[in-house]
Amino acid sequence: MRHLLSTRELSREQAVELLDIAEDMAAVQEREVKKLPTLRGKTVVNLFFEDSTRTRISFEAAAKRLSADVINFSAKGSSVSKGESLKDTAQTLQAMGADGVVIRHHASGAPYTLATSGWIDAGVVNAGDGTHEHPTQALLDAFTMRRRLHGAASRGRALDGVHVVIVGDVLHSRVARSNVWLLATLGAEVELVAPPTLVPVDTSSWPARVGYDLDAALAGTPDVVMMLRIQAERMHAAFFPNSREYARTWGLDDARFDALPPSTMVMHPGPMNRGLEIAARAADSQQSTVREQVANGVSVRMAALYLLMSGDRGDA
Ligand code: CP
Repeated sequence: MRHLLSTRELSREQAVELLDIAEDMAAVQEREVKKLPTLRGKTVVNLFFEDSTRTRISFEAAAKRLSADVINFSAKGSSVSKGESLKDTAQTLQAMGADGVVIRHHASGAPYTLATSGWIDAGVVNAGDGTHEHPTQALLDAFTMRRRLHGAASRGRALDGVHVVIVGDVLHSRVARSNVWLLATLGAEVELVAPPTLVPVDTSSWPARVGYDLDAALAGTPDVVMMLRIQAERMHAAFFPNSREYARTWGLDDARFDALPPSTMVMHPGPMNRGLEIAARAADSQQSTVREQVANGVSVRMAALYLLMSGDRGDA
């Protein structure tokens, strides 16, 4: 694998292989000595043009646990605020000898531009681009589902027949897009539930059902309910839903949570708007995987960096 830009381009075999390597990485982290020498002498640049807590920190932890050198770049406080372009920023990183670039950018497609422009030789990982994709989030979500469902027998398995309901601000969610493609590739049955105003205009090519009634979707006893963050920062103020109305109609509140079977997983990529899309009781419950998702993110990102940066990256 040369770059990781989208889950849409992953085959089932590639996705299962990445999840299996993440299992190996998780096993390494359970040891007393958590580090592997795999990327010694390589440099990973975390190039973040948008805010992040989980993704940036876990890529940094992942790179360090593979013994890579890490350079953290944040657009705030850099020469980007003086108008420096993505091309000039990329060429600066190239001159510093970056072997891998992890990029988060507000513009959908920026990681593709970086990977295909010829400005740099490094492997590129998309850490979230606009409303387009967030592939490592979907991979860590799939990894978390697989581990909860199959435990020690996860290796080599996909998610065939697993019923996943994804709820909320689908329109602005790169997490939803990456999950739809990856989960379908892994054989899951994906259902999107959202207010009509927060569904993209054309989802006809998406391998997912779209509905507008959360209670009807939950009555179908899904294996997984994944709540999405309302992305106020990407909305025009006039389109921001009334918070109380949104929580009542689209939120995983106490009543909806109590009606779920105890086996239903409750997921959220974070950061959460508690009391809006998810109640605290659901978020902090045994059924919630929120903290597992964060922990698993390090293993999955170690697997992605390993595949991109160790040895010959190939052209795939
Ligand atoms: N889930 C996620 O991408 O979180 P951050 O924005 O904190 O990285």
